[in-house]
Order: sequence, then structure tokens, then C-alpha cells
Amino acid sequence: MTDPRYLITSLRTHQCGALRTEHVGQRVKLAGWVHRSRDLGGLLFLDLRDRSGVVQVSFDPRFTPEEHRRVASGVGLESVVVVEGEVVARPAEMRNADLESGDVEIHASSISVPGPAATPAIPVALGKGEKLPAEELRLRYRYLDLRRPDLRGNLILRHRLLQRTRAHLSDRGFLEIETPILTRPTPEGARDYLVPSRVHPGEFYALPQSPQLYKQLLMVSGFDRYFQIARCFRDEDLRADRQPEFTQIDIEASFVSQDDIFALGESMLAALWAEAGHEVETPFPRMTYAEAFERYGTDRPDLRYDLELFDASDVFRGVDFGITRTALDQGGRVRGIRIPGAASWSRKQVDELEVLARGAGVGGLLRLTRVNGALGGQHAKFLDASAADRLGLAEGDLCLLAAAPHRIGSAALDRVRQESAARLGFIRPGDHRFLWVTSFPLFARELDGSLVAEHHPFTAPDPQDIDRMESEPESVRSLAYDAVYNGTELASGSIRISDPALQRRLFARLGIDEETARARFGFLLEALRSGAPPHGGIAFGFDRIAMLLAGGTSLRDVIAFPKTAAARALFEGAPATVPIDDLEALHLEHRGTP
Ligand code: AMO
Repeated sequence: MTDPRYLITSLRTHQCGALRTEHVGQRVKLAGWVHRSRDLGGLLFLDLRDRSGVVQVSFDPRFTPEEHRRVASGVGLESVVVVEGEVVARPAEMRNADLESGDVEIHASSISVPGPAATPAIPVALGKGEKLPAEELRLRYRYLDLRRPDLRGNLILRHRLLQRTRAHLSDRGFLEIETPILTRPTPEGARDYLVPSRVHPGEFYALPQSPQLYKQLLMVSGFDRYFQIARCFRDEDLRADRQPEFTQIDIEASFVSQDDIFALGESMLAALWAEAGHEVETPFPRMTYAEAFERYGTDRPDLRYDLELFDASDVFRGVDFGITRTALDQGGRVRGIRIPGAASWSRKQVDELEVLARGAGVGGLLRLTRVNGALGGQHAKFLDASAADRLGLAEGDLCLLAAAPHRIGSAALDRVRQESAARLGFIRPGDHRFLWVTSFPLFARELDGSLVAEHHPFTAPDPQDIDRMESEPESVRSLAYDAVYNGTELASGSIRISDPALQRRLFARLGIDEETARARFGFLLEALRSGAPPHGGIAFGFDRIAMLLAGGTSLRDVIAFPKTAAARALFEGAPATVPIDDLEALHLEHRGTP
């Protein structure tokens, strides 16, 4: 809590929302915005708002001179005013329980208007039943939208979470070190925001996608424990939980194992959740990537409900049904989910689930039920009566199955699982389920058959699997991990490669030859040869944490000046074209709008 004495300025003695019965009898000077006004003939009320909240000010011939009453009655909503007056207790029947200052009001003796306002483009105070303006308008007039208490509250919470993060990490010996914003473009570069160099024609900086390389260099430099509240920039397709510029709590430490990073991450998340008033149990459970996919069809399972997937391949082996036979013959699987009580869902309701599954790439879902003990549903005719037991169906279950390659079937059933849980009301508010997902694969196979790093190419392979890096790369596990909360990925990290020979071997496996590796990452390879400590780290998506703790549904709820889904800043009109002369100064030419 801020000491109220620090908030006194030459234009005010108190904050509006802080006034209480203990202030009754005091003369005060308040400054703020006109939130609402009510003119009851001779008597006029203004609700005055500042960052702390709202207080009612009354203008009455008994205590307000005529000239000031005239000013008050002419002042427009959202104007900035300075009011002087006396704090008085409201009569019991006039108290307003909705306002923290609702036991008192101000009897105004004067008012001045240093900041008159034109009619606001969007309302700040909503009337009863009035809906928020369209989001596009709210983003266009962001400075007005930010006056509303819920957004203001979110940004105040964000501030507190930032301070708590800094204190938590600093107390544990982590040093906050800033790293460059103008950086070298990343090799593949597709998602870099580029900045042309004026003094070096044809050369570009890139805005950092993350401070990954810098934090590793800082470990080589011996800083031992680093953190940064780091702004990252990625030119990628946006969703509600992604912004083109976002903030990470970026962490790196030397002489650590996964367990050390997990213990630190758990204590930090518990501190942040506590800051928002929630108690969190630590340590968090752990699950391997393989197990997460097997049981939940995703690497970020929501553990607030069970609804686990199961394998039904054996039940379908030898069954004369084209879809399952083809999938099994091609090395795929038949996997499914049992949804309790859903046998009674209408065809339309199940169709909707199937649409979700199709969106993830499967051709459709097989439908089975168990009602009055018997196997039923559209696809029951392909199975014998004992299948209900072999599939583990309980009375009233709906069973939906995907016959597909492992990955595709997983993605489809993950969607079905999430939607079913929501329908069944399985998600209880206030349930906090954290999870570490470990042992991610080191490599992923692109559609064109090439190998890429699943996390990034500095991630250490699991020592038990290193021997298979060349022969069976896709079976090699890594020392990469994610923190997951209620089905959202909060953080990613890994133990890094600190042996330059292993780093070169990994580049080679990724098809990056010596020369290219030297050109792209030469400085890291050199640094690793100059005495590199074993090290590892993690980066938490800070906006996501703030959004979840603020109860928001979009990162825009917790970012002061966010971008739209089309990566535009509507209030300032960015991005924007620039005059040709400016382009020329940067040695650039524009080919016109495609
Ligand atoms: P990664 O790319 O997984 O890891 O990012 C870490 C965390 O940052 C958040 N995040 C985002 N938040 C908002 N908008 C985005 N566009 C966005 N992209 C990512 C997520 C994610 O878990 N250098 C590595 C970390 C490391 O290995 O230490 C990295 O950046 O919550």
C-alpha cells in the first residue's frame, strides 16, 4: 500500500476513492474526471473519479456559491476538474454500498475546470444494462477505455505482479540485465521484425524474438543467475493468447539441473498467484511429453478434469470396417474418449464435436454409446456385443473414436475433450492445476521431411538418448520442459548444450554445415569454447500470467496499448506508410501495395 502522504500534490490533498468516515469534517481538495452527473434542479451531484476510485460531490446553494454551481452544471462528462469542499457523512439511507467511499460525500465550496472534455467518443461510465462499445472502437480510443475501472485494475495488478517478480528473483540472487533490442536477424528469420540500417546500406537489425543467445552468453560471462522482464517481437499469426510484441520473464542460471529450474519456477508462480490472492500447491506434478499425448492428446493438458483418452486399436484389429482397417494398416491407431452421460446428447451436439475434430485433421469420429447395457450408436454394427465392455464403456457413456495417425488423432481428441468438459461443467472456478511437461522430443520433422529443433537448437539432448541422434533422431528426447496451467502453456525452457562439440554435432544433424554454423552462430560456438558452465533456463509468458490472474480472456485485457488480431495499433494508426524520402534515406524502395 502506498503511503497516502506521497500522493498529496499542490492540486490535491486526497485521492477520491480513499475518502472514508474518518475524514468527515476535513476540508479537502480533490482532482479528477467527471464520471457521472445528476442535476436535480437546485441540487447537483458530480461523481468525481481518479485512479483510486470515485467519490460523490454535491453542489448545493447552502454551501456552494452561485458562480461555482454554474460551472459545475455546465461541465461535461470526462472533464478534469479540481474541487474543494468538506467531507460529510451521508445519512444512513443515502449510503452507497457500491462505492468504497460510499459512506461520505463532499460538500463543494469551489470547482475549477483545468481540463474540459468534448463529448467522449466512447462512454467510460456505463449506464445500467449498457454494453461495452465494440472492441475496435475501444482500441481506437484506448486512452478512454483505460479510464474504466476493470482495465485500470488489470494494469494495477500487472504492475504488482512485475514488482513481485523482480523482488522474488532478486532475493534469490538473480541479476536483472538488459539485452539489446537491435539485434542480428535470426537465420530462418521468417518471423523477425526487421529494422533497416541507415549507415550500412542493405543491412538490417532485427527486433529480438527472445533474448535466448544473450542470456547464454551472460552465463559464459559468469553472471551465474540472470533475469529480465524482456520485450519480445514475433511477426506471427495472432490469436487471443499471442501478441506481436509481448513480455517474458526470462531466466537463465548456471550449474543447475531441471529440478533447480522447476523449484525456482514453482516458488515464483506461487508468489505471483499469492499476489492475486490465490494459494497454490507446490511442487507441481510432472508428466513426460509422451505420457501427456497418450493420456490427453496434447502437450498442455488441462488437468482440471479427467476425461482421459484411451487406445482402442486392439478392439478394432481384424474388424471389417474400412476406416479403422486403413488407419491401422498404415501404422495409425484407433483412440477414443469416453464421455460420461453423453449418450443422450443429440445428433446435432455430437455433429458439433465432429466439426471440431475435423478441424484438427481427422476425417470424422466413430460414435458408440452404452444404453441399457447394450452397445449402440451409429458405428455399433461393426462390433460385437462384448465391445462395450472391451471399450470400458459405462452406462450412459458416449464414446467417440478417431482412427488416424497418432498426432492427428491426438489433436482431434484433445479438442473433443476440451469441448466436452466445458459442456459437462467440469471446470470449477478457482481450480489451479499446474504441471511440468518434460522430455520433449529434440527434433521435429517438417512436412518436407527435413529435421528442425523442436524447441531451439541450443537445447540439450537427454544424455540417455544422445547415441541415437544420428540413427533415430525422432526418438531422441531433450531436456526441454514447459510449465502448463489449466491447459495454457505458461513457460518453456531447457537445459542447454554447453559442450561445443555436441553443439556442432546437433547443428550437423539439423543440416547446418560447419561454415553456415560459423556464420550464423559463430559467436556462440566460440563462447562455448571459452569455458562454458553447464546452464539452463526458462521464459514465462508474462502477459499470459497477468491475463489469467486478472480473469481476462485476451492478452489485450492486460496490455496498456495492445495490437489487434491484424497486428495494428488502432489508436495511433500503426503500422503506417512513410514518405519516399525516408525510405531512400534507409536505402529502401517500396514496390507498391500488392
Ligand atoms: P518460447 O518461444 O516458448 O521460449 O516462449 C516462452 C513463453 O512466452 C510466451 N509467448 C507468448 N506470449 C504472448 N504472445 C506471443 N506471441 C508469445 N509467444 C510466446 C508463452 C511461452 O511459453 N527462449 C525461449 C525460452 C527458453 O528456452 O528459455 C523462448 O522464447 O507463454
